[in-house]
Amino acid sequence: MRRAGIVGLGMYVPPKVLTNRDLERMVDTSDEWIRQRTGIEERHIADPGVGSSDLGVQAARAALADAGCGPEDLDLILVATTTPDQPFPTTAVMVQKGLEAWQAGAVDVGATCSGFIYGLSLATSMVESGRMNKVLVIGAETLSRITNWKDRATCVLFGDGAGAAVVAEVSQGGIQAFELGADARGTEFLNVWVGGFKKPVTAELLESSDRYINMTGREVFKFAVRTMEESVRRVADRAWGGLEVDLLVPHQANARIIEAVGQRLGLADKAWINIQHYGNTSAASIPMALTEARDAGRLSPGTRVAMTAFGGGFTYASAALEW
Ligand code: ACO
Repeated sequence: MRRAGIVGLGMYVPPKVLTNRDLERMVDTSDEWIRQRTGIEERHIADPGVGSSDLGVQAARAALADAGCGPEDLDLILVATTTPDQPFPTTAVMVQKGLEAWQAGAVDVGATCSGFIYGLSLATSMVESGRMNKVLVIGAETLSRITNWKDRATCVLFGDGAGAAVVAEVSQGGIQAFELGADARGTEFLNVWVGGFKKPVTAELLESSDRYINMTGREVFKFAVRTMEESVRRVADRAWGGLEVDLLVPHQANARIIEAVGQRLGLADKAWINIQHYGNTSAASIPMALTEARDAGRLSPGTRVAMTAFGGGFTYASAALEW
């Protein structure tokens, strides 16, 4: 069987930075509370008119350059996003347009914060089966558009950004195992109920908080810690027969969640944390974290990486990767 791996990585965040001090002027919060409870110091916010596809195109260009290939080499573009540009064309099609990747198929993946790993698993299957040679997987979000800027319990958490990976055949290492999961009993704890087509935004719902991210933080926290711990154990077991992990790249939702998962797994010193600069960027967080870990020299041939994510739905996903 062909082995698939990540042959290029890239990320992009919009230039505008919103600090905790800025948030102090918007809602009843403090820099100290946000740092202590979440680890977040600042986040990036896209300007009006900039969509998830625009951020995704920038991240994709960096990943393609890193892989040493061009947009014409791509067979498929997968965009994981919770904040698509519009109902249609899909965000992946808008990325195809931005890249001029005219040979590539294009499809969105909707699995909230777990979307990048879901996309990576689809890309891996395409490459392993020999059906495709190069697949671009992007996680791109403009969460600032579904953030309730009057709700201090959620608005301090989120940011905008994108990360991208090129998946292709590799001769050594590569992606070893996946787990994809969902638990629909969690819908009530994390959701945006208005703005789709079952409940479109009507005049009477214009001011409704249901247009924005609603979250029962404590429940999400408990689910996240338990699920990511168990899921990492299972993929690492399948890939390496145990927790032989050199680098843990978890979804960046809260530094306390990451620390708790790291401690339970005995991998606290191996967990990559960059949430301080970006907040929670949902589907973009794992490829952004992986790119920064690589740039910091944390990936070398043979490095065993466990990635894990959870998100609204609930959804969850993990992957075991050998660099
Ligand atoms: N500033 C100051 N005080 C605040 C703020 C704030 N920004 N937010 C809440 N508080 C207050 C609350 O009102 C509460 O006050 P009270 O005790 O007087 O009632 C107090 O702080 C404690 O609130 P909790 O919600 O219990 O605080 P907690 O320690 O649980 O932290 C948090 C909240 C950070 C949201 C945490 O629960 C968390 O990280 N949960 C998981 C979030 C997450 O991972 N979400 C994923 C979303 S991904 C997606 O799908 C888009």
